[in-house]
Amino acid sequence: MTESEHTPRVAVITGASSGIGAATARALHADGYRVALLARRLDRIEALAGELGDGAIAIGADVTDRDAIVAAAARVADELGGADVLVNNAGTMLLGPFSSAQREDYRAMVEVNLLGAITATEVFLDQLKDGGGDLINISSVAGRTARATNGVYAATKWGLNGWSESLRQELLPDVRVTLIEPGVVDTELPTHITHEATRQAVQQGYDAATVKPEEIAEVIAFALSRPRHLAINEILVRPAGQLG
Ligand SMILES: NC(=O)c1ccc[n+]([C@@H]2O[C@H](COP(=O)([O-])OP(=O)(O)OC[C@H]3O[C@@H](n4cnc5c(N)ncnc54)[C@H](OP(=O)(O)O)[C@@H]3O)[C@@H](O)[C@H]2O)c1
Repeated sequence: MTESEHTPRVAVITGASSGIGAATARALHADGYRVALLARRLDRIEALAGELGDGAIAIGADVTDRDAIVAAAARVADELGGADVLVNNAGTMLLGPFSSAQREDYRAMVEVNLLGAITATEVFLDQLKDGGGDLINISSVAGRTARATNGVYAATKWGLNGWSESLRQELLPDVRVTLIEPGVVDTELPTHITHEATRQAVQQGYDAATVKPEEIAEVIAFALSRPRHLAINEILVRPAGQLG
C-alpha cells in the first residue's frame, strides 16, 4: 500500500452545524475521512464532533470573517495535516419581494453564499493543491433557474456556478471542482427568512419536503469517491416531484 492509501483524507465542511453540512460531515467521517466542522454555532459543531469521535474537530468560524477562516486553516494544517477536500456549504436563503426593506438580507446572502465560498477557497487553496484535492461547491437549482422573490439568492447561486466553471478549468487536474445543485431539501434553511409572508409560504413547501440532507450527503460522498482520473463536474438533484 502507498502512503496515501494509509492516510485518511481530510475534509473541511463549512456550515456543518445543521442540514446538508452536518449530514455531509457524518457521511464523510463514516467513509474514513477526518473532518473539520466549521460554523458559527460552536455548541452544535462541538456536539457533532463529540458524536463522531476520533478524527473530527470543531472550529467556530464565520465565513464572512476572513481572519477566522485563516485561523481555521492554520488549525486544520496543525491538527489534521491540511485539507484535501473543502465543501463550501455555508449558505442562507433570505427570500422575499425585491425591496429596500431587505437590503441587509441581500448583503448577507452575497457575503455568505458567494464571497464566503470564494474566501474559504482562496484561504484553503494551497492545502487543496498539495497532493490532489477536491472542491465541492453547494449551489442550488436556483443556480440554474430563477423565479419571483428569489432573485438575490439565485444571483448568488448563479454566481457560484460561473465561478466554479472558471475554477474547474484553472485548477485541473490538481483540484477537482464539483458543483452540487439540490432542489428542496428538508433543512432549517427557510426558517431564517425575514419577510414573514414569504417565510410562511416557503415553509409550507419545506414541511412537505421529501429529500433528506443525508441523501445529498450521499451524492457528495459518491462524487468524492470516484477515482482521481474521473471528475464529476456538476450534479443537479431535484425531488422527483419538483417541477422548477
Ligand atoms: N435545503 C435546501 O432546500 C437547499 C437547496 C439547495 C441548496 N441548498 C444549499 O445548501 C447549503 C446548506 O443549507 P441547508 O439547507 O443545509 O440549510 P441550514 O441547515 O440552514 O444550514 C446552513 C448552514 O450554513 C451555516 N452558515 C450560515 N451563515 C454562516 C456564516 N456567516 N458563517 C458560517 N456558516 C454559516 C449555518 O451555520 P451557523 O448558523 O451555525 O453558522 C448552517 O450550518 C446552503 O448553501 C444552501 O443554499 C439548500
